[in-house]
Order: sequence, then C-alpha cells, then structure tokens
Amino acid sequence: MMIKFNEDYEEMVTYWYENYWEPGFKQWWKGHETLALHVGLYEKGIKNLRDALLNMNDFVGKLLKLKKNEKVKVLDAGCGVGGTSIYLGNKYPKAKFIGITISRKQVEWAKKYAKERNFNKNTEFLRRSYLDTGFQDESFDKIFALESVDYAPDKRKFVKEMNRILKKGGRLVVVGPAMRKTQLNPFMKKIYRLFNIGRGNFFSFLTLNDFKRYLEEEGFTNIKLIDISKKTYRSSVNSTIIGIPFLL
Ligand SMILES: C[S@@+](CC[C@H](N)C(=O)[O-])C[C@H]1O[C@@H](n2cnc3c(N)ncnc32)[C@H](O)[C@@H]1O
Repeated sequence: MMIKFNEDYEEMVTYWYENYWEPGFKQWWKGHETLALHVGLYEKGIKNLRDALLNMNDFVGKLLKLKKNEKVKVLDAGCGVGGTSIYLGNKYPKAKFIGITISRKQVEWAKKYAKERNFNKNTEFLRRSYLDTGFQDESFDKIFALESVDYAPDKRKFVKEMNRILKKGGRLVVVGPAMRKTQLNPFMKKIYRLFNIGRGNFFSFLTLNDFKRYLEEEGFTNIKLIDISKKTYRSSVNSTIIGIPFLL
C-alpha cells in the first residue's frame, strides 16, 4: 500500500489511523485488550505493556481529578478508538465521556467497542475536530487530550477552542510528546520526525514553551508541567519500531 503524502493534515491523519488499526496496532500493541493508541506509562510495579497502557489511562484520570461519584462532563479530544474514555467510563460511572476524532471509522470502532463492553451508557463518540468542535461555550467540566494535540497544525487554535468550551474553573489535561527545545539540530530533527511519522504525524511538532505561552495568553492559570519521558521511553522506542513497517 502506498502512502499518499497530502498537505491536508486531516486527510493524512485519518488515512493513517484508518489503515493501521486493524491489522496493525490492534494486534501488535495490545489493542484487543486496551484499545490504546498511546504509549505505556511504566511506573513502579508495572511489568508489561498491557498494564503500562492501562496505567496511562489511570494517570489521565488522576490528573483530571476524577472522583467516583461525581457527575461531570468530560471531553476526550482526539479519542482514537475510544480506549481511554471507555476505560475511565467504567471506572467513573457517574461521569459522562464524550470522545471526538476526525476519523469517521474511529468513531464507528469506538461506538462498537463501547457497546461490546457494555460501557456505552456514559460514553459518546462523535466525528469533530478539536480545532472547531461546534460545542456550546462552557460545555465541559474537564477536558483531556492524550497524545493528540501534537498533530494539530495550529496549537493556539486548539488552546483557544478548549478555553471556549471548558467551564470556568474547569481542568484541561494534555499528555503527549513535546519538544523542550524550539530548535533541533538536523540529526535530531530527523530522529524526531521519524518518531512522529511512526504515529502518523507527518507535519507538526509540539514545543513546550510555545504551548505554555498559548495557555497563559488564552487565560489558563495554575499551569503545571510534568515530565514523564523516563517512564514512557521504553514504550516510545517500541512504538516507533512497530511504526516502521507501516512506512514501508
Ligand atoms: C495517537 S492517537 C491517540 C488516540 C487516543 N487519545 C488514545 O490515547 O488512544 C491521536 C488521535 O488524535 C486524533 N486527532 C488528530 N487531529 C485531530 C483533530 N483536529 N481533532 C480531533 N482529533 C484529532 C486522531 O484522529 C487520533 O484519534
């Protein structure tokens, strides 16, 4: 299969994810069990990929400060095949999780998986872009974006849109690959690009300082940066290796 390089990022991302879930990550990345399209978080006591992938969902849940019996509306911005929302939806049955992705097929898969697992009562999946969601102002109590914002060609637009749809005093959690330096030397740029291409991201990087500045300028407060690179390194390298055959 030939990859069509297309300057339209939505088409490229959709093409990638719709072709490489099955067969692909679903088989090789414990997707059957976890529905994960993210890297695993290896914390103390976590021994295998499956548990590391699920642990990442728990990490997001902790950062969101979800509580067992709280009735909150949560947006999963860039939801993949719904893994994190379905997992958290099961753990926090009173919360409502709405997942959005630009891929129609991912929406279908996410709905199917939620139904099969019987977790479709408090999850919903829609085809929308996180750059222009169409939701009303202040629709959500909490928003998370797990390994999805780095794809956006315009990160400020993402921040603006999240600020618009998040309730005052709400919480935004963004987890994913980011560069500490704005400038990389040509060798590192190639390596980083290879890593990104292995995840279907052909066009853009997320730079920490820029992203933090956008958050500040759009009015977010109490911004905290957490470095989890040491705990995700193993999984990042493995996922890049798995991504290589897809390129060929
Ligand atoms: C690496 S996957 C992560 C999926 C999911 N969060 C997970 O952890 O399993 C990236 C996701 O971002 C989505 N995405 C990229 N650009 C998007 C956009 N503009 N709006 C909504 N979703 C987008 C892709 O469709 C894909 O589902």
